[in-house]
Amino acid sequence: MAGQRRNFLKTIFGSAFLVTIAPFLSWGGFLFRKEKTGEELRQKVANISEVPPNSIVTFPFPRTGNPKVDSDPFRQYALIHLPNGDVKAFSKVCVHLWCLWGYFPELREMQCPCHGSIYNPDTGVATAGPAALQPYPTNALPELKVEIDENGDIYVTHLDGKVGYGREWKRALDSIRKLAETAPDNEVVAYVPFAKPIQSKNIKSFLSKYNVRLSKAYGYSGQGKNREWLESDSVDEAQNIMDAAYGLDVVAKPRDLLKIADDSNVFVVYVRRG
Ligand code: FES
Repeated sequence: MAGQRRNFLKTIFGSAFLVTIAPFLSWGGFLFRKEKTGEELRQKVANISEVPPNSIVTFPFPRTGNPKVDSDPFRQYALIHLPNGDVKAFSKVCVHLWCLWGYFPELREMQCPCHGSIYNPDTGVATAGPAALQPYPTNALPELKVEIDENGDIYVTHLDGKVGYGREWKRALDSIRKLAETAPDNEVVAYVPFAKPIQSKNIKSFLSKYNVRLSKAYGYSGQGKNREWLESDSVDEAQNIMDAAYGLDVVAKPRDLLKIADDSNVFVVYVRRG
């Protein structure tokens, strides 16, 4: 992989692509430098009122106050306030060859300008393009844990993964496996993000296939700038008002959630509450 990246650097140096490319001259330094990017760092990014739904803000992490250091692309992250209210923070560096991705709100996805990798904003996992063909765990963007306090101030902490390399995103299932052992009969509410949105008429069959109930469906109707982001806690209503669903909150036993996580259109499942 390192050789592949070196060859890519030779190709792109001197080209107009440099605007979107991370500063590769520092890549060796990146690989070996030691930053305090663990749980001990907790950095304020913005107030939730400053980040409207389906928008992003970019920020350096860890922020030093030195503009030169803080502009290092390997420190660039994006906080995404998703249409369903979830707030995520991912590294901006594509795990293919380190270009910086952009967010496309009408499509609710991140796209890399260099070779077209597409990332799912619920998970940071690549769903198309060369990054999606890379083996686990090198097919996902590193992620910062997001905390929002009672005033709506958003903090990031605890970097999960290695910038430019990937993240072990399947570890999100560990808590469900533990629940399956310790409290197998207790139902929990969990978020099921789809790699590709499903048609709203298929929500009912998805739920019955895995023997789970709907808590809330998240989807959309329309296209482009006319796309409307919708949610509903009723299967019938979701079917009526949505063209497609990109995610579902379901009520389920842990073992059924693990079966859902094996679905080819579902990368991972997140427990919201037990
Ligand atoms: S750098 Fe190649 S797809 Fe992002």
